[in-house]
Amino acid sequence: MAAPILSPSLLASDHAHLAAGARMAADLGLAWLHLDIMDGHFVPNLSFGPESVAALRRHGIPLFFDTHLMLSEPHRYVEAFARAGSNLISIHIEPDYDHAATLARIRELGCECGIVLNPDTPASAIEPLLAQVDLVLVMTVQPGFGGQPFRSDMLPKLRQIDAWRRERNLGFRLEVDGGIDLATAAECRAAGADTFVAGTSFFKADDPAAFAAAMANL
Ligand code: DX5
Ligand code: ZN
Repeated sequence: MAAPILSPSLLASDHAHLAAGARMAADLGLAWLHLDIMDGHFVPNLSFGPESVAALRRHGIPLFFDTHLMLSEPHRYVEAFARAGSNLISIHIEPDYDHAATLARIRELGCECGIVLNPDTPASAIEPLLAQVDLVLVMTVQPGFGGQPFRSDMLPKLRQIDAWRRERNLGFRLEVDGGIDLATAAECRAAGADTFVAGTSFFKADDPAAFAAAMANL
């Protein structure tokens, strides 16, 4: 099983000091940073855009930018995020656009690509795309806001996707996002997840270093 990766979600950091939040993660020796991009349409909230991502790069943030596009029309924006410095761009399966072509375009732009599914979306919806992705992101809350409770009814979905990964000998990472703390991360790990987004439990922790160290030993 792949070593666990913690991807702290900058959404839960101080938005007037995004670079400081990202720097804290880098200084703790973490490799990934989760960037939640919201359009106020696919999800009922707004966050930040490609200019913020580019500014983080200009400030010398060296992290692997794990970019989660919660957009109704992600195909219109993948190029902007690739140019801004994203390393991985994940797109949702729910909106109606050409998913396969958009994943291929993300690769063409030099990034890794991921497919995301909401809690109400069955695993079968992404099954045909599994061979084409570097990451599958299973939402463990309804996307749009940080700080929501973990949905343990997503564990069977994780097990199913992990089973397909083994059967087909595929190498994608399996990421979870929403309500992740040490306890829920351990449940997800046991169900096959290897990549863990954490907003509140990292940025609002009394001791983010201790949290990161514990996550590394999941
Ligand atoms: C939810 C976002 C998450 C969010 C997670 O819409 O996709 O990445 O930041 O926040 P926590 O960890 O607080 O549930
Ligand atoms: Zn996210």
